[in-house]
Amino acid sequence: MLKETHLPGIADRAHPTRVGTDSEFGVFHTRHAEEADASVLSVIERDAFPSQWPPTRFIKEISRRRAVYIVATRDYRELEIPESLKNQGHASDAGFWNRLSSSLRQLLLIDERESTAYPRDYIGGFVGVWYIADEAHIVSIGVRESVKRAGVGELLMLSAFQQARKHGCKELTLEVRASNGAAQALYRKYGFQNVGLRKKYYIDNAEDAIIMTTPPISSVEYAVMLDALARNHAGRWGHLPEPIP
Ligand SMILES: CC(C)(COP(=O)(O)OP(=O)(O)OC[C@H]1O[C@@H](n2cnc3c(N)ncnc32)[C@H](O)[C@@H]1OP(=O)(O)O)[C@@H](O)C(=O)NCCC(=O)NCCS
Repeated sequence: MLKETHLPGIADRAHPTRVGTDSEFGVFHTRHAEEADASVLSVIERDAFPSQWPPTRFIKEISRRRAVYIVATRDYRELEIPESLKNQGHASDAGFWNRLSSSLRQLLLIDERESTAYPRDYIGGFVGVWYIADEAHIVSIGVRESVKRAGVGELLMLSAFQQARKHGCKELTLEVRASNGAAQALYRKYGFQNVGLRKKYYIDNAEDAIIMTTPPISSVEYAVMLDALARNHAGRWGHLPEPIP
């Protein structure tokens, strides 16, 4: 029988995390963000939140007490030309694809070369969670444009739940722009419900923020739902999130 706080699909499996088993997007893992990741997180933030101002000071955020930042990463070596592109008339020109692959790698490194420290792997997205009383507040979740719709956002969401449970939080909460249909769809999929509105919350365009919160995450019903989501995600995209120490 399922224990109240038991989520076998998320917590118990030691497999590496795979995303995009069609190999177009590579294999993504989750890990804690490190100081060396800060400049890349800024790049991803600019990509995912072009109107955000001021930019987040990730160095400060990563070391914040009562908070956690998780990144979804893959090995640089797994960066390959998607089969769908290869099949567009140049498949026989191996030299062409090698040159393109090499240019892409260089471009990505230039992308990451904003600081003197380099991340050890390619970061596709991140999630930041603050622990406030017995709530886990998702302060930011962002995925690179180039790897959107490949299960990375969901992988980060599963990691946020994993962290919240580990921290003994009763529920997860967040604010989302009223116009952000993609993010709201992700949150609804994970059981978040609209619980309030902050009028004109965003300063760039005076847009309202919708406050969304999960039901109690330790309830058996919610644990069963989350486990089903984790299994579905694993079946669709690859392995389950690996436990984070
Ligand atoms: C929201 C965001 C994190 C989703 O990341 P992602 O990796 O593309 O999402 P996933 O591939 O894991 O999709 C998971 C679910 O999210 C929802 N979703 C994601 N993108 C969507 C879109 N463009 N339209 C509708 N639903 C979408 C779907 O419910 C999807 O489940 P499904 O594949 O079964 O339909 C990403 O779009 C992003 O970084 N957006 C910009 C930053 C942002 O708005 N962050 C949220 C601030 S509150």
